[in-house]
Amino acid sequence: MPATTASPRSETPDTRSQATAPAPGADPAGTTIEERARAAARDAGSRPAGAPDFAALLRQDPEIAGVLLGESARQSDGLQLIAAENFTSPAVLAALGSPLGNKYAEGYPGARHHGGCEIVDLAERIAVERAKALFGAEHANVQAHSGSSAVLAAYAALLRPGDTVLAMSLPHGGHLTHGSPANFSGRWFDFVGYGVDEETGLLDYDAIRDLARARRPKAIVCGSISYPRHLDYAAFRDIADETGAYLIADVAHPLGLIAGGAAPSPVPYAHVVCGTTHKVLRGPRGGLILCGTKLAERIDRAVFPFTQGGAQMNAVAAKAVAFAEAATPAFGAYAHQVTANARALAEALAGHGLTITTGGTDTHLITADTAPLGLDARTARGRLAAAGIVLDTCALPCAEHPVPCRTGLRLGTAAVTTQGMGEAEMKSVAELIVAALEEDGAVRSRTVALVHGFPPYPDHG
Ligand SMILES: Cc1ncc(COP(=O)(O)O)c(C=O)c1O
Repeated sequence: MPATTASPRSETPDTRSQATAPAPGADPAGTTIEERARAAARDAGSRPAGAPDFAALLRQDPEIAGVLLGESARQSDGLQLIAAENFTSPAVLAALGSPLGNKYAEGYPGARHHGGCEIVDLAERIAVERAKALFGAEHANVQAHSGSSAVLAAYAALLRPGDTVLAMSLPHGGHLTHGSPANFSGRWFDFVGYGVDEETGLLDYDAIRDLARARRPKAIVCGSISYPRHLDYAAFRDIADETGAYLIADVAHPLGLIAGGAAPSPVPYAHVVCGTTHKVLRGPRGGLILCGTKLAERIDRAVFPFTQGGAQMNAVAAKAVAFAEAATPAFGAYAHQVTANARALAEALAGHGLTITTGGTDTHLITADTAPLGLDARTARGRLAAAGIVLDTCALPCAEHPVPCRTGLRLGTAAVTTQGMGEAEMKSVAELIVAALEEDGAVRSRTVALVHGFPPYPDHG
């Protein structure tokens, strides 16, 4: 396999200093949970009763087993450039597929509505402590089922129905939860959209300040599904303070870059930070909320009991595993490689004639216009899919009128970086993309040859 970039899988996280959970109780044999876990770690064959058993699934339900095998092959045989996806570690997958998924745990550690939560309480305490340490936050809520649930809880904690909220408009890169009429946010709140400069594609902070002064929102949301540049959280906080608004940073996309030190952190500036634990952070599908001590109770109550029921304790444990991985130097190297790869890919695509929004990227995200090649984005995505290159389309910044806005391609480099690809491979990826857009018949086999050199799970026999 070619020289690879650092992966958390190449380094065992040292969780000893981070796991500040209280000493667990002794079991009937007089050993603590930690002692049992250490003993199990010495015995390579031991695993919890009910741990995933693919052979059992294959015997019992070959139809669904076939789906798992098919998806696994699809992920390994194509070039995965969807900006929101990644290959999470076998350790995260083990926690996700664990018997913790059987446990009901409404409430919070030490204050649950169900019995028998003393063990899963440990998982949540550990996850919370690791998240706080990783992001330097006073409080963390690790129960949000998804990024959307995290945003919903932030609104529930800070807003009343009908309140005015400023967020990036959807055609310029806002998420559905930032005021789409098809989403609870657009129905329950009065969203006012700010946009990017149509020429440069960059946020215009003076224009956002003017809009905030005029509309006096209760909250300002910063964060995007496609903005490829770092956000100026200090500027957003300044605007929020001037206009008496809460600042909510929805950093679903760059949360992993923030953890790895490859993007600035909103934690010192935002009243509430929402994120996803998948995407660049490379954990399980799920949400995370960070805030200061003052808002901690409001946020926790907004998650449970206001917007959610029982926490998914298998996902909470998997988040804890991902936070420990993200605290390692290897993860920092990965995060920086993700951005280096995105820069290299953006440059190479521009060299082949695509227009890159904002002229480049600071993050894992690239948005590109295929119009200079005479192709609309939908046709382009179809040709790429036929070549085994998987990515999304997204709206490109445009004037609100005339509609419709143009769409472009949205690419991300997190998954390919996890696979071990570096800047040299990004040049090959750009060549493959352009060959696929030109409907070169040989490109599918060239894509397979490239990705097979970088298996997402190299230890899989
Ligand atoms: C900025 C932003 N917020 C929220 C979400 C929602 O996350 P989820 O799909 O986990 O609900 C996303 C997902 O892509 C996002 O990019």
